[in-house]
Amino acid sequence: MRKPLIAGNWKMHGSLNQVQTLIGDIKAKFPTDSTTQVLVLPTFVHLSLVQQLLKNTTISYGAQNLYVGSSGAFTGEVAGAMLKELGVTHVLVGHSERRSIFHEELALIAAKFKAALDAGLTPILCVGETQTERENGITEKIISEQLDSIISLTGIAAFQRAIIAYEPVWAIGTGLTATPEQAQAVHAFIRQHLAQNKVDIAKAIRILYGGSMKAENAASLLAMPDIDGGLIGGASLEASSFLAIIHAAEQAFQRKNELTKEGS
Ligand code: 13P
Repeated sequence: MRKPLIAGNWKMHGSLNQVQTLIGDIKAKFPTDSTTQVLVLPTFVHLSLVQQLLKNTTISYGAQNLYVGSSGAFTGEVAGAMLKELGVTHVLVGHSERRSIFHEELALIAAKFKAALDAGLTPILCVGETQTERENGITEKIISEQLDSIISLTGIAAFQRAIIAYEPVWAIGTGLTATPEQAQAVHAFIRQHLAQNKVDIAKAIRILYGGSMKAENAASLLAMPDIDGGLIGGASLEASSFLAIIHAAEQAFQRKNELTKEGS
């Protein structure tokens, strides 16, 4: 069974005070026997505070971005090794906001994915189509390109140490959510695409859904067989909704476990 992962992408939000309150509220109600892996992704400047606040908890923290290489004349950038030193375990790569606002191309994203692995971090590779691409019927083509650009640089084996997040661009921050069936179809496609290269890796990799996931829709999305968790934006900025999504993941995982047992 793939262990569910609920990750909160805080994007460019939060002050020192707000971060302290949010982590405090999450910790206060966090289930100690959680079967769900939980991760928060604050801004770079909040990482060391988050590191202190999450000491002696099972909640991990990651970064939203990194640059390639271990050091160098790259003003304004942060290397994987620096993140690793702060106890960071995961890093987002290829988020649609990086692709569109910051013009990150496939080659740079692939280089960042590799840099994360080289630094000992787990990359969470975000993939997804825009509204127009969906309407033009090229969702699978776009996602294949996003996956293949990485596979051709690192090889499929690298996906053993990675996570994928399917984030339809049209669902991010819009309140529109892919239906569970729409999301499941793309998740299954991603798994099948990876399986063409290596079946074991495709079966084991966790594929998260992101795009207006919230307390109200999390259970139905997480119930889908190929949805292994969520990458949450807005709803991760409030402890109560983030905790509700974690709870939904626990229940979905239990149910899937039961189904596997019944089936075997
Ligand atoms: P929202 O949950 O705010 O739609 O954001 C999703 C996202 O981009 C997570 O990375």
